Amino acid sequence: MQDKINEIRRRALSELVSVTDSKALDDIRVRVLGKKGELMGILRSMGQVAADMRPLIGSWVNEARENIENAIADAQKAIAAKEMQRRLEKEKIDVTLPVKERSEGSLHPMSLVLEKLFDIFTGMGFEAVEGPEVEYDRYNFELMNIPQNHPARDAQDTFYVDDNIVLRTHTSPVQARIMTTRKPPIRIVSFGRVYRADEADATHSPVFHQLEGLVIDENVSMGDLKGTLDTFARRLYGEGVTTRFRPSFFPFTEPSAEVDLTCAACRGKGCRICKDTGWIEVLGSGMVNPKVLEMCGIDSKKYSGFAFGMGVERLSNLKYNITDMRNLYENDVRFLKQFRT
Ligand code: DAH
Repeated sequence: MQDKINEIRRRALSELVSVTDSKALDDIRVRVLGKKGELMGILRSMGQVAADMRPLIGSWVNEARENIENAIADAQKAIAAKEMQRRLEKEKIDVTLPVKERSEGSLHPMSLVLEKLFDIFTGMGFEAVEGPEVEYDRYNFELMNIPQNHPARDAQDTFYVDDNIVLRTHTSPVQARIMTTRKPPIRIVSFGRVYRADEADATHSPVFHQLEGLVIDENVSMGDLKGTLDTFARRLYGEGVTTRFRPSFFPFTEPSAEVDLTCAACRGKGCRICKDTGWIEVLGSGMVNPKVLEMCGIDSKKYSGFAFGMGVERLSNLKYNITDMRNLYENDVRFLKQFRT
């Protein structure tokens, strides 16, 4: 009996020395120490042994079990260490390997120009304000002195939501919103989307951006308007770019002027972009019509003001030599990539 026990132990211990994974280790444990295992087999067969021998055999079995349990615990530790080692090897990161280059994003040319305009005008003391894109007829037309049957209200140009609500056709309604809620002095600019029922082509889009400016105070003159726009032109396109005023008409200004800037592409010499004139038309402006001031609750005897409005796409196209406006909306990365700074 003792030989049998020693043999079980010898075999188990020698196997445990060379075991390398936890599955094999478990198999040995079950085979030797399990309920139906080899050592239990010995105890179970005790019935055939003389009663006075049983305690002795029991103690041999216990001793063997203890030896084997200790060996299993050792093997377990060794395996865990080896498995950890293996995992560390596998997950090792070679920090000297070259990395895959990530393509860098860039600001959209419209964002670049809008940021620049924001800086230019806030730098001159203007406050940037916002107005809604879905606008009441009253602000978009009525208070801007565009009466009921004015052609600008034509449904062919204007997206109507219902009889009283439109998608704003310009940023000028922000003027009305400000004048009806604030007292002079007023000095604001407002950027945003405007909507017109136009087919998209190289120079038109049903959605585009405008920048609106409004200054109201005592003794504001056309000279102030000219000075403001000259400064704006220089800051956006550089020294040497100036403005040219041409008489015009807008219902909300009196007098009104269309303003050209020195062509930034040829610096006034004449080129394809300015059709050899040296000038590019970029904005509308004028002295706020006293009628508009009065309708908005501002005393036109005490106060005067100027206003201007311009298309932002136009400005960015000139700045970046973009010839087709659709490029600004199609978001082709090959186009946008060029504006990485
Ligand atoms: N609202 C005009 C347009 O969309 C542009 C404009 C002209 C705005 C003259 C003004 C202005 O503030 O004074 O065509």
